[in-house]
Amino acid sequence: MKQVKTWSGRLSLLVMLLLMSGCFGNENLTALDPKGPQAQWIFNNMVLSLYIMAFVTLVVFAIFFYILAKFRRKEGDDEYPKQVHGSTVLEITWTVIPILLLLVLFVPTIMGTFEFAESQAPEDVEDAVYIDVTGHQYWWQFDYEEGFTAGQEVYIPTGERVYFTLNAQDVIHSFWVPALGGKIDTVPGIENTLWLEATEPGTYMGKCAELCGPSHALMDFKLIALEREDYDQWVEDMVAKADVEQPEDSSVQQGYEVFQESCISCHAVGGAGSASGPTLTNFADRKTIAGYLENTDEQLEAWIRNPDEFKQDNNMIPFPEEDLSADEMDALIAYLRSLDVREEDDPE
Ligand code: CUA
Repeated sequence: MKQVKTWSGRLSLLVMLLLMSGCFGNENLTALDPKGPQAQWIFNNMVLSLYIMAFVTLVVFAIFFYILAKFRRKEGDDEYPKQVHGSTVLEITWTVIPILLLLVLFVPTIMGTFEFAESQAPEDVEDAVYIDVTGHQYWWQFDYEEGFTAGQEVYIPTGERVYFTLNAQDVIHSFWVPALGGKIDTVPGIENTLWLEATEPGTYMGKCAELCGPSHALMDFKLIALEREDYDQWVEDMVAKADVEQPEDSSVQQGYEVFQESCISCHAVGGAGSASGPTLTNFADRKTIAGYLENTDEQLEAWIRNPDEFKQDNNMIPFPEEDLSADEMDALIAYLRSLDVREEDDPE
């Protein structure tokens, strides 16, 4: 590799490093600005270990420079110094000190690990929220106890622990909302558990954190924390949608028919249970399409026409114009736009 010799070259390397380290990342996609007790705990431990490392570095360098100065060769000093080999005191010292430092990190780590592994709410908590999470190539399924399913965006109440049970459909994924807590793998055939809590309402970005295929980096989701009463309302509205057979608005009837014809075999609207593609009950409320594209009509059409262009190797069937005419597409988009559950806008 060619060495970078110029100052401008070195400076741009430094900028690149900072960018790659995520210093300028999305404020809701960072572990350095914790928004919940679990993330706070991780952050505190990170700071604690940084202090310990800084302390060790300082002490080692201080001793190093002291010895350099004290034992340097002086003028007229032509003798070999006394040759020594081994020192029991030193050996014990530099074994015991690291053990003590490790203990300082070990105790809070183990205590936190057990606390965060709690899969059930304490008995005195009555209406704790439990959500089943399933990772798919390349989207997320969220099943609620009330019997409905949500895709890509998981809603939770603010200020309380929400208990997740996690699983995967195909390969190993990893569920991670950096601002709220640690990541946990979703593994086919194995149930992992995790609780998260958001201390303030907001939209928190989530990522798949385990390489799961060509579109792994695009397997984004959102965690939306609402005040408890707004959350209860949302749940009620999602449940109510389960019984809606026909669209209430007759102007989207044609689009509804296109949907029944072309989409329903993979995407459910309302009702319980999973489907092979994300449930679209509240599609119009979503901020993004496929987890990361801006939710506009143009992007939506482009996505339906050729999903592979945006998320390589995903399982959605493309609908080119010979399968879905421009008129049918417009009607379908109008129908999808009618699928909203929340009336007010972002909690942000
Ligand atoms: Cu799913 Cu990476």
